[in-house]
Amino acid sequence: MEQGQLPFVVLSRNCDKLSDLIQKYQIPVIKNIDEDCLELLNINDRLSLRLHQTSKTTDYNIDFNSGKYSHRAKYGGGKNQTLIKACGLNKEKNLKIIDCTAGFLNDSFVLANNGANLICIERFLPLYILLKNALKKHNPYNIQLIHGNAIEYLNKLKECVDVIYLDPMWQRSKNNAEPQKNMQLLKLAYADKSEQQNEKNTLNLLNLSLKKAYKVVLKRRLKNPVLQTPHHNLQNKRTRFDVYVN
Ligand SMILES: C[S@@+](CC[C@H](N)C(=O)[O-])C[C@H]1O[C@@H](n2cnc3c(N)ncnc32)[C@H](O)[C@@H]1O
Repeated sequence: MEQGQLPFVVLSRNCDKLSDLIQKYQIPVIKNIDEDCLELLNINDRLSLRLHQTSKTTDYNIDFNSGKYSHRAKYGGGKNQTLIKACGLNKEKNLKIIDCTAGFLNDSFVLANNGANLICIERFLPLYILLKNALKKHNPYNIQLIHGNAIEYLNKLKECVDVIYLDPMWQRSKNNAEPQKNMQLLKLAYADKSEQQNEKNTLNLLNLSLKKAYKVVLKRRLKNPVLQTPHHNLQNKRTRFDVYVN
């Protein structure tokens, strides 16, 4: 099971409320935090991740019923959003979409809010656990979340779906700008992966996706090179969506 390079732990004094998860995912229980790590907590029946670094701690909580998720759903621009157009939801509702790179489900919520039926896959275990807990509390679009590597999931997939959406990984910025908070966590989780490895993985995922969907949408930064010539692309200020049509 992939859980990134950060040690993922529970503190022994907090393990009562987390015993099922500790057992299910074999999460190490430790007495004290004395190295950089990611701690799983249960605060008032809501799961949370605490990133411990030498100089600071950062908490990660997800509430799909508040803040940016509902804001983007209400005011995000609906069918005019580039993401929606790239996936074709401006023309057709009820598309079946597999988001192979769930992340924090920001894009998935926008897709689901615009009519997509979504299956989302996340391989980074701590994030998957957080998302699963948040979806248990609020899942208005009935998003199905799966833990694992999308490559394995797609290899077993028998049917061809309408759209596969890929937003594979934080890519290093040339100007050294600090990635935003969520991307900071993913950057640390995959700190051992080189840019070339990430690009190779993306290409593998893209090629497999092309065999399993009528349309594949690959999100890239504007500056990123084209991995494989798309049918067309759509752009906004910072992002390019390369669209592949079968
Ligand atoms: C840039 S983030 C996606 C952000 C997401 N689009 C959002 O709106 O929040 C990429 C995510 O994809 C996950 N990921 C990358 N490759 C994957 C794969 N092959 N299978 C499953 N998850 C993958 C990473 O763990 C990470 O959480």
